[in-house]
Amino acid sequence: MPLPLFLLVPLLACHTIEKIGLDTAPPANLCGGEIFVPLAGYDDSSPDLADAHAARFGADPEPYHVHLSWADDPSTTMALIWRTDADTTATQVQYGLDTDYGSTGNGASFFVGVDQANGRVHEAHLCELTPGTTYHYRVGGEGHWSADATFTTAPNPGEAAPFRFAVTGDSRDNQATWGLLLDAMESHAPDFYLFSGDAVDLGVNMSEWDAWFAAGEGHLDHRPLVFAHGNHEFQVQNYYALVAQPGNEQWFSLDYADAHFVVLNDTVATAGDRELQAAWMEADLAATEAKWRIALHHMPAYSSCTTHGSNVDLQTLWSPIEEAGGVVLDLTGHNHNYERSYPLLDGAQTTAELGTTYVVAAGAGAVLYGNDLSNAFTEVAAVTENFVIVDVADGTLTLTAYDLGGNVLDRFVTTR
Ligand SMILES: [Fe+2]
Repeated sequence: MPLPLFLLVPLLACHTIEKIGLDTAPPANLCGGEIFVPLAGYDDSSPDLADAHAARFGADPEPYHVHLSWADDPSTTMALIWRTDADTTATQVQYGLDTDYGSTGNGASFFVGVDQANGRVHEAHLCELTPGTTYHYRVGGEGHWSADATFTTAPNPGEAAPFRFAVTGDSRDNQATWGLLLDAMESHAPDFYLFSGDAVDLGVNMSEWDAWFAAGEGHLDHRPLVFAHGNHEFQVQNYYALVAQPGNEQWFSLDYADAHFVVLNDTVATAGDRELQAAWMEADLAATEAKWRIALHHMPAYSSCTTHGSNVDLQTLWSPIEEAGGVVLDLTGHNHNYERSYPLLDGAQTTAELGTTYVVAAGAGAVLYGNDLSNAFTEVAAVTENFVIVDVADGTLTLTAYDLGGNVLDRFVTTR
């Protein structure tokens, strides 16, 4: 079956750049492409082009739910999404090394579905940024800017620079706990977040996304978040409208310093897409020279959770490729607890240096499930809200799992 057109059209986005105060031509080919209105994963019709920037403001033009992600190289680009009322088309980003900004980028805007009551989504992509650099920015348009915020670009790809990221997933219908978890993660000052899916209970309910991003105010505007699609996102347009990620936004890879992140979607719209991802991942992992290879998706291949347990299909289809491809961590959610396997190779315990360690960090608010430690592959489990902090430095990866109160649940260290 041919891929839906949606999957073939890269969600590239562009903006034109004016250098304020400089009488020079804008740099050529920044980002390139155009911003499309994303369709749902089940919709194979052609995406619509978003409205290009126009300096028009409606009655309630102040930006809200400003959040960061990557649609391209984390060391030189940043994607920004925010919301306003329906009538505001102004979609600008001012950015620079201080609050004088100095550069302005234009984006585009669109409605989610046909319901203009949800207001307008604005998306802009910044390119040709300097690696390892903190930028100030604000979004909106003249007279209606968001508060100043900052982001920091990734180190150069391949650079053995220390970094830290946070992992969680499965807030579902409990955004109060998601907010508390963000506060707890903030105390560790991660460089970015990985979210393993099921942000909401029903992806079609925009009110749930509103609550999720409202809880993220003050967090998601200065630390990028990488999303794996969960089964509760249901492949709806709300999801694709509110995230900006590479390619089809479902399966892609990103490099951050000396790490290579492979993001997969295990709740696919089209039969065969898991197999397609297996082939894609095998080639993707073969092509990287990164020391640290880390996978993120939603459903755990290995789990002793009493509600869902292991996903045997993924054990068969994806785990051998990850293990042969040198993936050190397979990070997932879906089974609402914390779990870590022994390092595994073909389902058998091996050394941390040789195997893939399977981690379930699914405690961002969803009702907790049980764990009976029933499988020999499970080393640690804890039935509690949780998040994971991963530090990479000096050839060592250290994973620490915390509960909502900041108590350490688990620590895992490996070298490569
Ligand atoms: Fe799930």
